[in-house]
Amino acid sequence: MNFTVQPGETVAIVGPIGSGKSTLANALPRLLNIGEGQIFLDGHDITTLPLKDLRRAIAYVPQESFLFSNTIQDNIRYGDPLAAALEVEHAAKEAQIHPEILNFPKRYDTLVGERGITLSGGQRQRTALARALMVDAPVLVLDDALSSVDNQTATQILQNLKTGTQHQTVIFISHQMGAAAMADRILVMDQGRIVQAGSHAELVVQPGLYQALWEQHQLKEVLV
Ligand SMILES: Nc1ncnc2c1ncn2[C@@H]1O[C@H](COP(=O)(O)OP(=O)(O)OP(=O)(O)O)[C@@H](O)[C@H]1O
Ligand SMILES: [Mg+2]
Repeated sequence: MNFTVQPGETVAIVGPIGSGKSTLANALPRLLNIGEGQIFLDGHDITTLPLKDLRRAIAYVPQESFLFSNTIQDNIRYGDPLAAALEVEHAAKEAQIHPEILNFPKRYDTLVGERGITLSGGQRQRTALARALMVDAPVLVLDDALSSVDNQTATQILQNLKTGTQHQTVIFISHQMGAAAMADRILVMDQGRIVQAGSHAELVVQPGLYQALWEQHQLKEVLV
């Protein structure tokens, strides 16, 4: 595969189970070893960058993130323990979790996990996203990271990221076609390759995998 992502662009990656989306996502922050001369960040071969610098530039959010049995505030500012409450709140707002936190018994000081309240899957995912936003990395990679969040909220989150002050480059890997549709560009993967690329408007009128995935999604929406 061969593609370029522009700074500030929101790129969605969609495709069937096992098509290689996570493999690609893992390669970007070098969670899996990749050869020289294959992936470049601002012209630098990522294998030549110190891992610490690469991971500060690329925030990666997996489907399941680890939350500590600690306050929700400390979970969000995990990467930056001295972060101000206002910054934590800002990240929580972008991740669409702030209103729910206000409903918790002790708001941002509520304990989560074993010793505290149990968060739903979607709440855990949005907390993990807020944590990643605190890192303030120019590139954000979300690998199925909003799978337990409803489509409407996922779409709103993507919208926040697009128009947010940070103006990050976002790589949104998802089975949520409705949210992926609003990306600037969509890459469609199948069997380890990119088989289609374009905007939703372009792809939805082309016979092919994207159209098939979109029709499946439409059908599901009707059934729900
Ligand atoms: N190092 C490897 N060598 C060979 N095959 C691999 C390796 N790593 C992963 N695979 C295979 O590559 C395929 C793609 O897996 P991947 O997890 O990237 O898919 P995916 O698109 O993220 O799927 P899903 O939608 O279920 O998350 C799978 O069949 C997987 O078993
Ligand atoms: Mg995957």
